[in-house]
Amino acid sequence: MIKIDKNEGWINLSTTNCSYIIKLFRNQYPLHFYWGKKIPTPGKREFPYMEPTRGNLVIPEPANDKIYIELLPLEYAYQSSGDYRPSSFNILDKHNNPVIETKIKEYSILNEKPNIPGLPCTWAKEGEAQTLKLVLTDSIKNLDIILYYAVIEKYDVIIRWCEIKNNGTQEFYIKRLMSLSMDMLNNNYQFLFLEGAWARERQICKEIIKPGLKQIGSIRGISSHQFNPFFAILDKNADEHKGSVYGFNLVYSGNFIAEVDCNYDKNLRLNLGINPWEFSWNLKPGASFYTPEGIMVYSDTGLNGMSRIFHRFYRERLSKSTWRQKMRPVLINNWEATYFNFNEDKLLKIAESAKQAGIELFVLDDGWFGERENDKTSLGDWFENKRKLPSGIGLFSKEIEKLDLSFGLWFEPEMISKESKLYKEHPDWCLHLPQRLRGEGRNQLVLDLCRKEIRDYIFKLISDILSNASISYIKWDMNRTLSHAGSIAYPDEPQGNIMYRYMLGVYELMFRLTSHFPDILFEGCAAGGGRMDPGILHYMPQFWISDNTDALSRLKIQYATSLVYPPIMMGAHVSDVPNHETGRYTDMEFRGLVASSGSLGYELDLNSISVIDIKNIRDQIVFYKKHRKIIQFGNFIRLLSPFENNTTAWMFITQDKKEALLFHFALLNEANLPPSLLKLIGLDEDSFYVEQRTGLNFSGKELIHRGFLITNKKQDFKAQYFHFKKKNLN
Ligand code: DGJ
Repeated sequence: MIKIDKNEGWINLSTTNCSYIIKLFRNQYPLHFYWGKKIPTPGKREFPYMEPTRGNLVIPEPANDKIYIELLPLEYAYQSSGDYRPSSFNILDKHNNPVIETKIKEYSILNEKPNIPGLPCTWAKEGEAQTLKLVLTDSIKNLDIILYYAVIEKYDVIIRWCEIKNNGTQEFYIKRLMSLSMDMLNNNYQFLFLEGAWARERQICKEIIKPGLKQIGSIRGISSHQFNPFFAILDKNADEHKGSVYGFNLVYSGNFIAEVDCNYDKNLRLNLGINPWEFSWNLKPGASFYTPEGIMVYSDTGLNGMSRIFHRFYRERLSKSTWRQKMRPVLINNWEATYFNFNEDKLLKIAESAKQAGIELFVLDDGWFGERENDKTSLGDWFENKRKLPSGIGLFSKEIEKLDLSFGLWFEPEMISKESKLYKEHPDWCLHLPQRLRGEGRNQLVLDLCRKEIRDYIFKLISDILSNASISYIKWDMNRTLSHAGSIAYPDEPQGNIMYRYMLGVYELMFRLTSHFPDILFEGCAAGGGRMDPGILHYMPQFWISDNTDALSRLKIQYATSLVYPPIMMGAHVSDVPNHETGRYTDMEFRGLVASSGSLGYELDLNSISVIDIKNIRDQIVFYKKHRKIIQFGNFIRLLSPFENNTTAWMFITQDKKEALLFHFALLNEANLPPSLLKLIGLDEDSFYVEQRTGLNFSGKELIHRGFLITNKKQDFKAQYFHFKKKNLN
């Protein structure tokens, strides 16, 4: 809900548990007053942050000798005006003169959350959202900067984005335009972000904020394996379970930047938006430019509280897919079982065993099209490889269906191989810079999806296949980052613009395909988790979070990914041992429980493993199906971090707290270890629970305050689960 006190210039954006308060100061500066636990609007008083005279600072208005712009906590920051912190925007006219002065022009409340043209965004049902539209204007340049703050009270989120509108007759160049900026007063905060690499995505990194500028981001054309477009600011003593945490996530899949600037007073300026690297957007008279949206979440119950808000909101209001709230099928994917080396017979044998094990969906991965015998050829030639699949995809999908399995197919729609019919016909359809090398990654080039005719072509090829076969799942892969980003359609544009246009093109293609085939479950993938972000998750409510299927590595990847994204969105597979990426052996139970913590799948040849493991897999699937609803739709709570302990533990709890699953993973064993008490979280204090496997009774208070005893088993990589049900006292 949004309340405006026009007389005193306060705007209070409040959700169920938090307030975000802005002060409109002297009709010029929207100042950041507060964001945190719910408080009332302050009432009549000046902004309590006017400094006594301090030397050597710039005064933007001589009449107001106490206003040093560099000390003001701004909602959206000027440039070139005496504020030397990283600005929210940088807009130049054609003589390179900047837009430097904006005044508050008007503000209003919309009773909805508008969509952002061309970009993925979260949404709200009628009556769920209000949006503050705060218009700043540079009257000399005739340019409006419109700040949007959508408030979705019941989900406890605030969503920010920005529009630049050119009302004048001259053109401008947008060099930098953040989705959100925020200034916070010194509180010895910590900065938490997710760093990584291929097969080691999203590792938690937490730093004490020190003076200077810290940036994370991507200029790879995708949000990247290296950094996720997410960060959190934590109170000094905040942790998983307590303290104030401020979470930020950008709904965008291309180049992004997140900045934390700490000045000499230890005050912070936060920025999140499109990366300004080689970005220069020509804003013509009459035109608007919109940033992607940034989601902001406040929690006073630590990181778990923040994640709970993100999870619920993303499960319910990020994607519009019909699969959003549908239970996900247990799948088998042939990639690690066969790689490129398969034929119909081999696949059908895997599918038959999969059916017997209780699997519901068979996914045919890379290698089924063109002349694709390895990763050097055929991307773009989306028609069957008849040597491998003489019946063609249509008939083959029917064969799979006869086994009472659904059928899924892999595509990599954004790519083109040099060795392909498509490249022979259209050598200029890839992104490239004139007269420069066409840099390849994984032996492939990137299609110029800035161009509509290329998107139309790919749409037609893929939709023909989807219309002529029985396909209920698509894995949309993307195996290389962008480089040499030039488009013959936009010969004068810098690489940052092309990468942005490329992203708009990808979104348009994703929108078209997902809305044309609304019953298909789309799973995103980018060489594993290289583009797992809310932008893609808007179109595809599931993501293959890493090519690393080693259960131990996965503990970390899934734990850290869950800071923002809910388990239902994480594709998690049991694969063979020794693991193909790490060479590690872990037992089937350990692999099974780790993968059962997400949307479960299998990625191994069921015909080449032991009878005992086949039986274990059957039992796992029975277990998963029984508990799938809690795992996919319950609250997820992290108890012990693999980044800090030799054990990991997490829980799934139904919304009504009647049922809970506790998963415990012991990593490296030591001799003579005592049992340990693990304090559970999120249960009902005033109820009693029965652990279903042992029949033991516990009060909720005991499990929460004393803990649950975990005994040590004599084994490395030992997984255990416990199932609690509320006791019916009647
Ligand atoms: C990368 C994906 O992450 C893998 O799962 C697999 O689909 C390969 N690409 C296929 O090329």
